[in-house]
Amino acid sequence: MFKQVNNDLDYQHVRAIRETVFVKEQGVSPSEEYDEHELTAQYVIGYDASGDPIATARYRGIGDTAKIERVAVLKNNRGQGIGKKLIQYIEKIASEQGYQHFKLGAQTHAIPFYEALGYVAYGDVFMDANIPHRYMKKTIN
Ligand code: COA
Repeated sequence: MFKQVNNDLDYQHVRAIRETVFVKEQGVSPSEEYDEHELTAQYVIGYDASGDPIATARYRGIGDTAKIERVAVLKNNRGQGIGKKLIQYIEKIASEQGYQHFKLGAQTHAIPFYEALGYVAYGDVFMDANIPHRYMKKTIN
């Protein structure tokens, strides 16, 4: 089950997943992980059948484009289609808000994951938080 984050408890769950995945697992510094968009981005969270939080992502409107960021599924829950459903959920709620254009900075290891969802890579590889990335985009009609 996925939902939009609209209270502090949900947001604390988002922070806990990001702490586990980005800060502890990937070694991203907290000052880079928790950025100036922290309070204005729109977050989503996914739960397993027991109600435990296992996945999160956020998006921000930049002009006519929704930029998807901080996509994370807890390690034990990967490879089961949860990340795919998470992105599809974000696309659904953002498109209901009028967004047709989507963009993200993909860690290069995750490019095939986003390609399976219809995203296309463009531009050069760049470093962010010491991790190689490429931009990817998708338009929904
Ligand atoms: N390489 C190639 N394909 C991959 C992949 C990878 N690393 N990860 C997933 N896929 C493919 C799956 O095979 C699947 O394809 P299918 O629909 O044809 O079967 C599709 O992508 C969906 O996979 P899914 O099981 O939904 O992915 P997931 O739940 O494991 O989530 C991540 C993927 C990237 C979100 C997850 O691995 C993660 O949280 N990683 C750590 C944080 C991270 O790197 N986030 C991305 C930042 S840009």
